[in-house]
Amino acid sequence: MCCATGANSATSRVIKQIVIYVVAFGVAIVLMRQVRKPHRWIGRPFLWIMNRTHSALTDWGLEHVAIEPDFTILDVGCGGGRTIQKLAAMASEGAVYGVDYASGSVVASRAKNAELIKAGRVEIHEGSVSQLPFPDAKFDLVTAVETQYYWPDLVNDMKEIRRTLKPGGRLIVIAETFSGGRFDNVKGSAMKLLGSHALSEEGQRELFNSAGYDEIKTFVEKRKGWICVVGRKTIHETPRNNTKEI
Ligand SMILES: C[S@@+](CC[C@H](N)C(=O)[O-])C[C@H]1O[C@@H](n2cnc3c(N)ncnc32)[C@H](O)[C@@H]1O
Repeated sequence: MCCATGANSATSRVIKQIVIYVVAFGVAIVLMRQVRKPHRWIGRPFLWIMNRTHSALTDWGLEHVAIEPDFTILDVGCGGGRTIQKLAAMASEGAVYGVDYASGSVVASRAKNAELIKAGRVEIHEGSVSQLPFPDAKFDLVTAVETQYYWPDLVNDMKEIRRTLKPGGRLIVIAETFSGGRFDNVKGSAMKLLGSHALSEEGQRELFNSAGYDEIKTFVEKRKGWICVVGRKTIHETPRNNTKEI
């Protein structure tokens, strides 16, 4: 009798432990998903943390592209809006736009850049990279920091960005991990839990090429495992038609 009671309480302890682990794992996944699509309320602390933790990576990446003071720039997947603030300081006579499909990110980016929005130098829009709410050939530069991992249709999304670039304009993708990079083992596993994955350096080249970019350049910060990829929207010569119709 006493042994049966002991066995029962041991079983219920094990069940309790399993339930705790399952719930903790579920909560961890829900929270981690805030990085992929931040919620208006739960996402707030994540956006604040990302503004801080992505700052050095963003500064490093932006060193690899020329930014003129009068540039019109779009930041895709703008998150908490810190990159927009940096870009507005660099393009001091230009305009910076942000776009993000998460309403939580749009609210946070607008709050972060309230002064610049008031001054008419920044606009933030809710929208997906797959269908950007901007006309053709508007931007000199498009930036994408820590967001490409989550895009649903990579080649078409990169083509959609190309549509909004001026001929000769550039897209820069900046990421803190890539397949084959220094911390890929750890970060790659976390990515899988978020239902996303990071391309390799060669995979990025192929992607940019498939989406119609030229002058593709990759830069790797080996010690930190960071990557930055830049591609240009080809400058097409307007075909001249010198033949007279008879
Ligand atoms: C990890 S956060 C990075 C935010 C910011 N760029 C930074 O460096 O801190 C990824 C952001 O990309 C956005 N995002 C993910 N997929 C997107 C998509 N398909 N279209 C637009 N934004 C997207 C998310 O909502 C989120 O704000």
